[in-house]
Amino acid sequence: MENINLSLDIRQDIRTVFKDKRVFSLEYLPESIIYRDKEIRAISPYFISALRGDPLYHTWVFGASGIGKTLCMKSLGASFNDKALKMGINAKYIRISCRNQDVYSVRPTATKVLRNLAMNLSYNISEIKRNWGSDMYVEYIINCLCKRKLKIILVLDDIHLLSVKDINTLLGIFSRIHDLDIEDTRDIDIGVIAVTNKPFLPDELTRDVKSTFGRRIINFLPYNAVQLQDILSERALAGYKPDTCGCGVVAKCAAVGAQEDGDARTAITYLRVAGEIADENNKNKITEEDVDIAEDLIEVEQVTEVLRAQPRHTKILMAGIFAAQKKNKDEYSKINTTVVFKYYELICLRLGYKSLTQRRVSTIISELDELGIVCATTISKGRYGKTREIVPTFSGKAKEKINLQFLQDIGISDQEMDQLSIQI
Ligand SMILES: Nc1ncnc2c1ncn2[C@@H]1O[C@H](COP(=O)(O)OP(=O)(O)OP(=O)(O)O)[C@@H](O)[C@H]1O
Ligand SMILES: [Mg+2]
Repeated sequence: MENINLSLDIRQDIRTVFKDKRVFSLEYLPESIIYRDKEIRAISPYFISALRGDPLYHTWVFGASGIGKTLCMKSLGASFNDKALKMGINAKYIRISCRNQDVYSVRPTATKVLRNLAMNLSYNISEIKRNWGSDMYVEYIINCLCKRKLKIILVLDDIHLLSVKDINTLLGIFSRIHDLDIEDTRDIDIGVIAVTNKPFLPDELTRDVKSTFGRRIINFLPYNAVQLQDILSERALAGYKPDTCGCGVVAKCAAVGAQEDGDARTAITYLRVAGEIADENNKNKITEEDVDIAEDLIEVEQVTEVLRAQPRHTKILMAGIFAAQKKNKDEYSKINTTVVFKYYELICLRLGYKSLTQRRVSTIISELDELGIVCATTISKGRYGKTREIVPTFSGKAKEKINLQFLQDIGISDQEMDQLSIQI
């Protein structure tokens, strides 16, 4: 009894600006979707065909990150499943994210998507074996559909995360199910909606897949700052207590989202983190300064998350880049590959690792450039050949925090780094 009282007291003591924090989570479905009428009108016929018993057809859905593609699919899919149930129609919407299909591995594959679909359709998942190949899953899926005389609208979300070969395989299978020699496929159908933020993806597919899948396209346009402001205002109203989050805060978060290609996800993250900062400081109102602090914090989190997942030598090289820049003292100064390599070799020596060749290090720099962690520009030095100038892409304030966390990760102190710098 004592414990219960204690926990109640604690709850009362905690001051928070949040009314309902779930409102800011990725899974949250807002009550209304604003500024997406045109896109929803364009997608609806794909769902309506299934309710009418018409043949299903496929489409691509294109649009930048965080602009409501998944949200619209989930919302349309839920109301479709509801309607189909009420009308007694054997049709189902299934969304498979090509992002996380398996908690044990990071790389998505066509086989995992097929396994996921099989699990989704099965009434007895113990029949599905982990070691099946794609063919077995396809056979199982078709059998499930045939037994239930089922038509499905299959949303393959973030399909670009699969390899082009796997996309060819999947779209090839799904757009040719009536040609498969498995069972009588008259009563079944699959309509695929392939969602991606890579508009040139279809060009990379085989001619056969392009022709069977078709070239229908629905485009989602990025939100502008005003639209983002309205989306955020609704979130703030649902997630924050009255009078804790003013228009200035919402406008500032919307401006950040607008800068990031109209990304509502980023804007919502800023709104949430700003609230968490206000809570940490025991304030009863979020301020625009909290958004500024959120900006640094989010940048640090994003970069450290990416760097933490990198192999040891990439981390050491990154430490070399930080150190070389620190010695230059200018936040935006560029450093060349030769200097970075010298630092890299010294840190390897200090930590007792055999350093990689300069050629391999050069590849790692390109990888860091691809990850958006550094910007590496090739410059010609005339008859002295070419070199690359490197600058980290994140701001000065974030850089210090990232550097410190990062040095801790590879096991070298800031002071030791300073001593190494003297040798260069
Ligand atoms: N019109 C809107 N109204 C309310 N919330 C929205 C709207 N558009 C997007 N959001 C919210 O923004 C976030 C990102 O949206 P969503 O996940 O649908 O983006 P996406 O286009 O699928 O991005 P990605 O390509 O990265 O998967 C979600 O939290 C979603 O609820
Ligand atoms: Mg999405």
